Amino acid sequence: MKVLGIETSCDETAAAIVDSDHNILANKVLTQLEEHKPYGGVVPEIAARSHMNHLDRLIRSALEEANLDFDQLDGIAATAGPGLIGGVFVGVMTAKAIAAARKLPFLAVNHLEGHALTARLTEKNAAGFPYLLLLVSGGHCQLLAVEDVGRYTRLGGTIDDAVGEAFDKTAKMMGLPYPGGPMIEQIAKSGDPKRFDLPRPMKGRPGCDFSFSGLKTAIRKQILECASKGKSTEVDIANLSAQDKADLAASFQLAVGDVLVDRCKKAMDIFQDTYGQPGPLVVAGGVAANLTLRARLTELTDTYNTSLLAPPVKLCTDNGVMIAWAGLERLRLGLTDSLDFAPRPRWPL
Ligand code: KG4
Ligand code: ZN
Repeated sequence: MKVLGIETSCDETAAAIVDSDHNILANKVLTQLEEHKPYGGVVPEIAARSHMNHLDRLIRSALEEANLDFDQLDGIAATAGPGLIGGVFVGVMTAKAIAAARKLPFLAVNHLEGHALTARLTEKNAAGFPYLLLLVSGGHCQLLAVEDVGRYTRLGGTIDDAVGEAFDKTAKMMGLPYPGGPMIEQIAKSGDPKRFDLPRPMKGRPGCDFSFSGLKTAIRKQILECASKGKSTEVDIANLSAQDKADLAASFQLAVGDVLVDRCKKAMDIFQDTYGQPGPLVVAGGVAANLTLRARLTELTDTYNTSLLAPPVKLCTDNGVMIAWAGLERLRLGLTDSLDFAPRPRWPL
């Protein structure tokens, strides 16, 4: 079975083909980073136009890479939400057009389900149901019990910012470019994580919810103090030395790690009570690309004698492979969608 997956919900235009033997036959990702850079964030209108300009060519090159024709595919999947709706329209309409013209099944994939199921493609048998999922991206921060394709129980989530958003805003405050996550991870390597005393919001609280707005405010205060060099009148971000930035990044990352470990520990206890096993713990979404955070989570799963499963770094951030795979999982179960399916800007799992 072979499925083409299309992803256009944010600032990556992506098309990929996977098969039911867990092979990635093509994986094309075109990032719009440069187009959004002058604005310091993703501009929905620019994103939608860019998807429209590039998607056809990207699909063609995915087919070429896989050495396949449309007629050799078994289904066409596209992200149908949640996300920036203009971009989602482009991907969904393209997928519907191909499905209609070639008489192929259409699969409307929830972007979050794409992240949630990727580990089943890459880790094969290790990620059997049920598993615990930490979904951490620019727009989402949730802990879920994944019981089956389409069956998710939410154990907790953020009450304010997503963790990727906290990375991005922290980076922006330090004058680093978007997306901030990879930059923070990079410069934190030469930083002292103990230099700045930052809060660990929600740590020790019952339940599995997250909060990052207090951490963001605290780091803002530290950045301003650092940049003013003791003079309250002259706050200039240019005053931050490379070492200041590295120490801020490392302290921030340590605080985030402490919070994630604490919340996952709570979730593993709940998961154990419900399913009789504490894991495995799957981490997915853009922030899962962070190797320091992965190492912290591995320490945690080791203490529970279970495993941390994480897709390869390039399959953590948005891509077409995850949509193709989620589509294939749905197709195998006969969960196809009609061509009337309406894209959903909001679509909780
Ligand atoms: O899943 P994704 O590509 O898009 C959404 O669905 O949101 O996630 C993007 C987010 C951004 O906030 C980005 O800063 C963050 O993932 N991110 C990282 C790293 N790589 C990407 N955060 C921390 N460390 C990283 N290495
Ligand atoms: Zn995503």
